[in-house]
Amino acid sequence: MKKIRKAVFPVAGLGTRILPATKAIPKEMLTIVDKPLIQYAVEEALEAGIEHFIFVTSRGKSSLEDHFDVAFELEATLHARGKSRASIAHTQLEPGSVSYVRQQSPLGLGHAIWCAREMVGDEPFAVLLPDDLMLGSPGCLAQMVAVHNEHGGNIVCTQRIDPEHSARYGIVIPEQRIGSVTRISGMVEKPAPADAPSDMAIVGRYILEPDIMALLATQERGAGGEVQLTDALARAAAKGNSFGYEFQGRRHDCGDATGFVIANLAVAMMRPGMTGAVEDFWSAQNAVPGVADTERSHVAL
Ligand code: G1P
Repeated sequence: MKKIRKAVFPVAGLGTRILPATKAIPKEMLTIVDKPLIQYAVEEALEAGIEHFIFVTSRGKSSLEDHFDVAFELEATLHARGKSRASIAHTQLEPGSVSYVRQQSPLGLGHAIWCAREMVGDEPFAVLLPDDLMLGSPGCLAQMVAVHNEHGGNIVCTQRIDPEHSARYGIVIPEQRIGSVTRISGMVEKPAPADAPSDMAIVGRYILEPDIMALLATQERGAGGEVQLTDALARAAAKGNSFGYEFQGRRHDCGDATGFVIANLAVAMMRPGMTGAVEDFWSAQNAVPGVADTERSHVAL
């Protein structure tokens, strides 16, 4: 089985679900505790053995490029003060291992992936949607690479959802369970609950065979008037060798404010040195009657 060396990070989206935070800051640069979302995805990819990082960007996203570049003044200051560089580890990727390509028009996830075709070339590759923060050990992509080594084909990461929420996701058509994976015969992008073929939703990690690019090139617009990756994957699945993998871990959708806040709490609760303070805050909140209500009305102002 060919090694998965390349990963595509679609980061061209406007982040309209979390305005005004994303008016001037790319949503991928919003921080979960002390690291931008994009860095969690990059670290997950590094752990999975990825060697080449391809960012599909758009206007206003240059801070992403700066984040993974050398920060000369910062480094010089840390050095002069005798401070460790550990806090900026993994922000400098191997020279030549990062590529950027622009998606000039917001035509959808499928179109964004297609924009990376020349950089991907003729080998299987990973796709990571950074809004989906995947917490797990080993990381979600490392789990999926192990599955790809065994089965090959196109692999989508899945999670069981409340069927009422099917219109937020791509939903797979399961065919047969084989060990830790489910062979799938198709998938549908954002179906209404009544039309959803299952409760297995696609979440933001994929391993794709390179021939998906040819399917994307001819893919007509689908849900939301956009070129959907799910629709091209459905065509590939009809020919076989497509799998859903239910990953071991927890996913947080950081593309909206609620998911973003919960992700911050979840990461803080796991962070040595922070867990106690967060727990103390919660118990103090709960111990004082009415405090939560007062705070809520203050926030509403
Ligand atoms: C995208 C995909 C969808 C998938 C979702 C996971 O949708 O098109 O199939 O279920 O990511 O987060 P988006 O959230 O970009 O609308």
